[in-house]
Amino acid sequence: MRVGVFDSGAGGLTVAKSLIENPLFDEIIYYGDTARVPYGTKDSNTIIRYSLEAIEFFNNFDIDLLITACNTVSAYALTTMRQKATYPVYGVIEPGIWALNSKINSLDRSILIIATRATINSKRYQLELSQLGYKNIESIQTGMLVPIVEEGILEGRVLDEMLDYYFKDINKIPDAIILGCTHFPLIEDTISKYFNNQPILIHSGEAIVDFLINKGYHKLNSKPSIKIFASDNVVALREIASYWLNYI
Ligand code: DGL
Repeated sequence: MRVGVFDSGAGGLTVAKSLIENPLFDEIIYYGDTARVPYGTKDSNTIIRYSLEAIEFFNNFDIDLLITACNTVSAYALTTMRQKATYPVYGVIEPGIWALNSKINSLDRSILIIATRATINSKRYQLELSQLGYKNIESIQTGMLVPIVEEGILEGRVLDEMLDYYFKDINKIPDAIILGCTHFPLIEDTISKYFNNQPILIHSGEAIVDFLINKGYHKLNSKPSIKIFASDNVVALREIASYWLNYI
């Protein structure tokens, strides 16, 4: 089976990595809209328009299903994408909530959601969690972490200061943190350390793998091939991919 993975840029490679480490498909077609990243600062109409253009891109590849690795796209464009696509389209928010729910044993636990401005403003995570009955939900827009990760800063003083800037007003260490942005798994160790390694971290890539297995997709014995495409500077994206994925 051939799966498409769509992201606003390089960040979705964290989801591709999970799909390589836990192979469910023979082939991954990755498309990053590197010409127009970030999506997390755009308004909903723009995010939907760009996402529909991605459907047109994937129409050239005869994919069996599409995963929108991007949380921002998952928050705004999933319904419209599903109406246009001729294959199933999965986002990462539902799997993220599902993963959290399977790891947390009480609705009283405190949940911190960190994501782009657009994802936080969509309230998708917050609403779905409150509908499930979670009472202690906090959300913080941490969009500046995106360019920091893109810059390859995954630990050290600059990142620590940025985490402090975003998290300094948190009084109690959360029980779980939803990494509601593709880039954040790359700094999950630093985030975890900031909170004394106490919270459970929810990672979109791991969540979608478990979610798809639960839907009946089976683990394969061999790793998938991956082809990387981008709307700008595909050479740079392929370099990032070979470094991050340590695979191609
Ligand atoms: N891929 C985006 C997300 O997961 C982060 C980068 C962006 O703002 O486009 O929300």
